[in-house]
Amino acid sequence: MRFGHFDDQRKEYVITTPKTPYPWLNYLGNEQFFGLVSHQGGGYCFYRDARLRRLTRYRYNNVPTDSGGRYFYLNDGGDTWTPTFMPMKKELDFYECRHGLGYTQITGSRGGLRAEVLFFVPLGHTAEVHRVKLKNESGAKKSLKLFSFLEFCLWNAHDDATNFQRNFSTGEVEVEGSTIYHKTEYRERRDHYAFYHVNAPVSGFDTDRESFIGLYNGFGDPDVPCEGKSKNTVASGWSPIASHGLEVDLEPGEEKTFVFVLGYVENPREEKWERPGVINKRRARDLIGRFERTEQVSAALADLAAHWERLLSNYSIESKDEKLNRMVNIWNPYQCMVTFNMSRSASLFESGIGRGMGFRDSNQDLLGFVHLVPERARERIIDIASTQFADGSAYHQYQPLTKRGNNDVGSGFNDDPLWLILGVAAYIKETGDYGILSELVPFDNDPKNVATLFDHLKRSFDHVSNNLGPHGLPLIGRADWNDCLNLNCFSETPDESFQTTGNRTGRTAESVFIAGMFVHIGPEYAKIAEYRGLSDEAARARGEIEKMEKAVLEHGWDGEWFLRAYDFFGNKVGSKSCKEGESQILIEPQGYCVMAGIGVRTGEALKALDSVKERLDTRYGIVLNNPPYREYHVELGEISSYPPGYKENAGIFCHNNPWVMIAETVVGRGERAFEYYKKIAPAYLEDISEIHRTEPYVYSQMIAGKDAARHGEAKNSWLTGTAAWNFVAISQHLLGVRPEWDGLCVQPCIGKDVPEFTITRKCRGATYRIHVRSSGGKGVAKLTVDGQPITGHVVPYARAGSVVEIECEAS
Ligand code: BGC
Ligand code: NOJ
Repeated sequence: MRFGHFDDQRKEYVITTPKTPYPWLNYLGNEQFFGLVSHQGGGYCFYRDARLRRLTRYRYNNVPTDSGGRYFYLNDGGDTWTPTFMPMKKELDFYECRHGLGYTQITGSRGGLRAEVLFFVPLGHTAEVHRVKLKNESGAKKSLKLFSFLEFCLWNAHDDATNFQRNFSTGEVEVEGSTIYHKTEYRERRDHYAFYHVNAPVSGFDTDRESFIGLYNGFGDPDVPCEGKSKNTVASGWSPIASHGLEVDLEPGEEKTFVFVLGYVENPREEKWERPGVINKRRARDLIGRFERTEQVSAALADLAAHWERLLSNYSIESKDEKLNRMVNIWNPYQCMVTFNMSRSASLFESGIGRGMGFRDSNQDLLGFVHLVPERARERIIDIASTQFADGSAYHQYQPLTKRGNNDVGSGFNDDPLWLILGVAAYIKETGDYGILSELVPFDNDPKNVATLFDHLKRSFDHVSNNLGPHGLPLIGRADWNDCLNLNCFSETPDESFQTTGNRTGRTAESVFIAGMFVHIGPEYAKIAEYRGLSDEAARARGEIEKMEKAVLEHGWDGEWFLRAYDFFGNKVGSKSCKEGESQILIEPQGYCVMAGIGVRTGEALKALDSVKERLDTRYGIVLNNPPYREYHVELGEISSYPPGYKENAGIFCHNNPWVMIAETVVGRGERAFEYYKKIAPAYLEDISEIHRTEPYVYSQMIAGKDAARHGEAKNSWLTGTAAWNFVAISQHLLGVRPEWDGLCVQPCIGKDVPEFTITRKCRGATYRIHVRSSGGKGVAKLTVDGQPITGHVVPYARAGSVVEIECEAS
């Protein structure tokens, strides 16, 4: 069942009923200031850090769900309602939500009054603009009241949700004309405040929540809108809010537009105050001045659209499959931008107060983002590398505002360092900017302890080869990509973290997955060393990689698939020999080892992939492991804590499905790769939204696996490495266009379903138009570049500004 439809022309998903199976979300914001907005107006916003600089309040896991947002209440002759449906839930004559690229527009009408609310963050500004259009569609004159509403968060979202003994006494605001200023804690150490403004005279205002709503009411039946009159309250402690009261007269057919601006301002210390106790509002007034008129708002919207048009034009496809087109051209890169910006911090499943930026997550996010804004990828790489330690290990997470590593989680996730090499390689291939390797980057953010980025990569590489276990395979540490495979932790007590508890120092538990990564990513390091003229170092690296490949084939092969690991006691994890109720096969090494090319010549690769098909594939995607763990295994950790079919215990973990897709292209089975692609790509799941439940325009981290009661139901949409990896799989491997070290590689492998397509790829300033005709097999039969046949798959990089026409015939 569908709850809306794609509007590809406008690059929007149009939701046509408020009663979707779950709140369907969108993101606002570009670089510094971000907002989350659901199809019912729920959500919140923050400056850079969802934990430390949150402007507005949201109530996670509340009843009803999706509670708190920027709401507009209408009182039309005593009939009070909200055009976003929530929170008043009055029946609407018309409802529509258009989630677009960086904006959301929700329209509701009732009783002949149509209200359209548009939310977006203008480029380059630390503010949300809310444009409200009210139109009288009835035959009679209307005199109505409009009340805006939002609730301020007292900045630190964790403290805000826990420290009530303090917080109920600190809230402070100022009101000046049509602007409400939120200045809690500004009197002491904060140099920032928020404001909410409307570009029209107000008939009243409120800033005290209890007065506006009524102590025993909810957002759905607030006193002020229902009574139709603001109380002009000035908050003193408790919960500061911002509400403007507006009186609006509309002739039949008349429309009026109001522009609200919710902004964030930082003042230099010496300019904090206008006069004692009164905040300096100059910067707020400047910001307000930029969106005072509706034409300014339209211009900012047009800028945003042009910005996205430009970004998306870096990779686009024309094909007969409209679902494929909309994934590749619009929604997958859009999600990649959001994961790049948010990492795993703020969504409907991530509260913004837990994890900050992940070391491995952010590096992988880069893979799907780097072609959009390479300069930002560069900056991110330096930030990430600055949280690495001198021995090559790395903080697992860091906070975006401070950019400091998170000591609570610490380090010891032994896959982390390798992802940095992959991120840097992707960046250099995209841009040709080898200069980044010479940048001086600190260890653990200590300016006194710096080395070149190249040196960081060397230490990443060596961290693996310096930490091998008894079989010559990499030690796993606290966990590898699978955070829940905790082979050294032995957690017996419920109130401790699975990942950071214990961590026996024994050097026995080994990961075949990290070995696969090493063989896949290590050659990038060798190539980089070569480019720096270090051929001995490159040769040394290749020697290590070769040894690792041998170790995998010798000790990491189980007969029909790759083993997953050896545990602390040296027992096999993910083997045919594992007991009843234990997993015999796990997905990660199957995809990753084949991506690395291990066993391609000798047959193990094909066997492993056939085992995946046979044992892990389902109608909704490939599960992580099979059979699921039936009971808790202290020696395996969190993976065995989940009920069968959920999360890392046999859920369909969408992040590693693309590894199998890419692996299928490595062995030349494009058709199967594309089948896997379509099983989890959201646009193809639109018709089963009632089962899938999350947004049909973005990937979710997990879909319940075949062992779960709710097989096919997705959770944790938006912030997942799934976005980047699926983009890499489809754009670079199935469609087959990817920047390599020496040129643009064109090597499609997608099968018969997509027999002809054209890719436009901009890279290093040149534009490549690639027309592909494919008969469904592997291998490029003929490649011509500007009419000249070439051998191989790699088209040398062209001069910036040039347009290169490529014809590709794939056998
Ligand atoms: C989740 C993982 C997540 C990890 C890291 C676990 O509980 O299942 O998906 O990566 O926590 O915080
Ligand atoms: C989500 C985490 O963000 C990611 O780092 C991890 O690889 C996967 N879960 C699998 O555990």
